Amino acid sequence: MVKTLNYQERIDTACKAIRAETDAAPSVGLILGSGLGDFCDGLENRLEIPFSRIPGLPTPTVEGHQGSFVFGTFAGRSIAALRGRVHYYEGYPQGDITLPVRVMAKLGVRTLILTNAAGGVNLDFHPGDLMLIADHINFSGTNPLIGPNLDEFGPRFPDMSDIYTRGLREKLRPLAAQAGLELREGVYMMYSGPSYETPAEIRAFRALGADAVGMSTVPEAIIARHCGMRVMGVSCITNMAAGVLPQALNHAEVVEAAARARGNFTRLLELMIGIS
Ligand code: HPA
Repeated sequence: MVKTLNYQERIDTACKAIRAETDAAPSVGLILGSGLGDFCDGLENRLEIPFSRIPGLPTPTVEGHQGSFVFGTFAGRSIAALRGRVHYYEGYPQGDITLPVRVMAKLGVRTLILTNAAGGVNLDFHPGDLMLIADHINFSGTNPLIGPNLDEFGPRFPDMSDIYTRGLREKLRPLAAQAGLELREGVYMMYSGPSYETPAEIRAFRALGADAVGMSTVPEAIIARHCGMRVMGVSCITNMAAGVLPQALNHAEVVEAAARARGNFTRLLELMIGIS
């Protein structure tokens, strides 16, 4: 067990570094998954601050991107977006990978939108589908709140019964339908990765109630809820999970499929920001 995780100090240091560069007052936070980071380029009045200028935050080790906070406005909302999230499988404790969410909370973010690429576990799903996350199963083996509680943010034992804010999902459904976007809804299950799951694991996950599986999102959602934020999550189903189809899984295909779904994904994101 890591002995000293001085998260409070790291959060304060990171906020101070950001405040030295911008007085932005974001109300909406955005975390962009594999192949979806380009959304940041469309923000107005954009200011990008690489993690290298924000001491205290963990740095991503994959995908050739060093990670950054992008501040800007979209549809009149002030946004703080994270480009290049850090995953648990990179070796950091979950408390570290979720520090940017705490930083967002301190900057004033009240609604967090989480996006990811995921494998379809539900046999009715198809690659390219967008799934609104209704709930999750934390199968990562740990919890980002393990360690001393940060009382400034929330209680020791936070409630998770409405983690993906029901009211926001109810608002989003008819808007998506009007826009002609077909929206699935289901349970996201987090697996640590970085190996993909086995076919037996996927059968087990289906029996446990999972509709989609991926390697992110759950720690961020838990921390956001602990901070009292409203949370929305959406999975882009990039592939059917292991064993569903007679083919192997690979990361390049995941990224490619996410890129193909980008148009619909962006339109959905715009609707989500609109109701945030
Ligand atoms: N499993 C886990 N993570 C993923 C998958 C998958 O099949 N697809 C995209 N991310």
